[in-house]
Amino acid sequence: MSTSSRPTPSVRRATAAAIDEAAQLIRKGKLVALPTETVYGLAGNALDEQAVALIFAVKGRPAFNPLIVHVLDLAEAQHLAMFSPAAERLARAFWPGPLTLVLERHPACPVPLLTCAGLSTIALRAPSHPVARAVLKACAVPLAAPSANSSGGLSPTRAAHVEEDLGDKIALILDGGPCPHGLESTVVDARSRPVRILRPGVITADMLQKALGETVESATDGVILSPGQSERHYAPKTPVRLEAQAAHPGEVFVAFGDLVGDFNLSPRGDLTEAAANLYAMLHLADAKGAQAIAVAPIPQQGLGVAINDRLRRTTKG
Ligand code: TXA
Ligand code: MG
Repeated sequence: MSTSSRPTPSVRRATAAAIDEAAQLIRKGKLVALPTETVYGLAGNALDEQAVALIFAVKGRPAFNPLIVHVLDLAEAQHLAMFSPAAERLARAFWPGPLTLVLERHPACPVPLLTCAGLSTIALRAPSHPVARAVLKACAVPLAAPSANSSGGLSPTRAAHVEEDLGDKIALILDGGPCPHGLESTVVDARSRPVRILRPGVITADMLQKALGETVESATDGVILSPGQSERHYAPKTPVRLEAQAAHPGEVFVAFGDLVGDFNLSPRGDLTEAAANLYAMLHLADAKGAQAIAVAPIPQQGLGVAINDRLRRTTKG
């Protein structure tokens, strides 16, 4: 092997043997990218302060932005955080799945403060993706796992997205195919009532309200409740123009529904399909080297709320 070539990023299909290797690497303090039902995560042992520091370093993530800690189930989560009755109800309704609960840390919580950016709260989620769950089982520690992208960039929904962005910086990328939802988890502050949505996602306000039998608040624009929601985020390198009906000269057009573009998030106007395609198409549009990426209007209903939240952040300062 030539010494001048950059180290081959090891992308491996998520077989039982590769999952075992991932778990061993994690237990040794290394980082592994793995698929979840939302986006690919950059996973390290949440209890290992050095592994967590490595996550911040590899992503170039500001240390004030806390990480989500992934667990197998509610029983494991209850060792880490104080569950309010509402939180317990939501965990029972939506775990395993794309819901992150922000709660007070348990007094005996073993997760280092660095993972939580020094806050008294901790964000917890039990993922449903079989590969993420298999790794959690095999390494038997909670996993700190932000989206596996450089800070501020687009979240990865394919192993190839991770390879391109972080391939030379991490020990292993487990390839489990495209992420089914394609959009990050819903983050809710479930410490007290009313429960508040800090980041809209696959689990909508409606779904939360039905499970709780009461109203849920949405974080209003401009009010920063989740440290990671403060900056420009989820952004391609190319500037983005929203609410476009067609491309201007020099633009690449990401359409929706009946509109005709270089890409179409969902020709049949289906928001679930659009969410699953969003980041993959923005990655492709970004690679075209156009002057701008024009994106069609997305209806502000159901999953459209989360899609529009991410799209708005691509254009922020
Ligand atoms: O779907 C997901 O949530 C993916 C997969 C890999 O699980 N992870 C993910 O992580 O999106 P990340 O780090 O990219 O986004 C986590 C968000 C950030 O906006 C962060 O500020 C917020 O959750 N967060 C984490 N801990 C928090 C806390 N204690 N209080 C408020 N917000 C918190
Ligand atoms: Mg992220």
